[in-house]
Amino acid sequence: MIRVLFFGDVVGRSGLEALSFFLPLLREKEKADFVIVNGENAAKDGRGITYEDYLRISSFGADAITLGNHFDRKGDIIPHLDEESRLIRPEGYDAVYQGSSSRVFMTKGVPIRVSNVMGSGLMDRDYASPFVSMDRILEKSQEKVHIVDLHGESTSEKAIFAHRYSSSLSAVVGTHTHVQTADERIVNGREAFISDVGMTGAGEGIIGFDPRQAISRFVYHEEATIRPLEKGVLMANACLIAIDEASGEAISIKRINERKKR
Ligand SMILES: [Fe+2]
Ligand SMILES: [Fe+2]
Repeated sequence: MIRVLFFGDVVGRSGLEALSFFLPLLREKEKADFVIVNGENAAKDGRGITYEDYLRISSFGADAITLGNHFDRKGDIIPHLDEESRLIRPEGYDAVYQGSSSRVFMTKGVPIRVSNVMGSGLMDRDYASPFVSMDRILEKSQEKVHIVDLHGESTSEKAIFAHRYSSSLSAVVGTHTHVQTADERIVNGREAFISDVGMTGAGEGIIGFDPRQAISRFVYHEEATIRPLEKGVLMANACLIAIDEASGEAISIKRINERKKR
């Protein structure tokens, strides 16, 4: 059995601080064999990820780092997309980039494929259909254990996706909304699914960002840059998925929501 721990979007310095505490702790406590972290908001301003942020997340013990619609906001990550084999960029993004949206990792002698796919429903821009993106990835995939980070806003799209691919994938973990959903389940007896795993960062913010700045901008229409909240409770949203390596079928999925004072 392979136990996979998946952390939702890491937001700002609070996110890195929360991850530095909770990743090693939960890896040990949950006896995780493999850890995936969505790092698309790890930069100081919560938009994108710098190369230094990537190195820090790796140093906390992440085996794979997935991204999302903000992944290219910090240009210094782009030249590293090819060489850094832990880094997975989303498929379905309209620009063509280096790197890969699907990579294979060896854990306990078992090949584990991790893919990152952009959702298209209710998003900030037009992205490719996640079904077209997934079909493209599956054409080149043979591994039994295959985990997908589906990065999108629409819960129904994510559920349709999970059902569409339940015979091909071990797990579909939703990211992007930063709000953990309570719908984790095993689809068709073989694929783990949660609409959104949530986020890692400030537990008292608005999806990790400072409420005061958000109110200034959205209520009073003031020119305010919304930045990650860097005080208060630290939160880590994650899930633990157990997978039978022989069949690639998921056995269980457990939601994790941890908090601590700084
Ligand atoms: Fe995000
Ligand atoms: Fe996102």
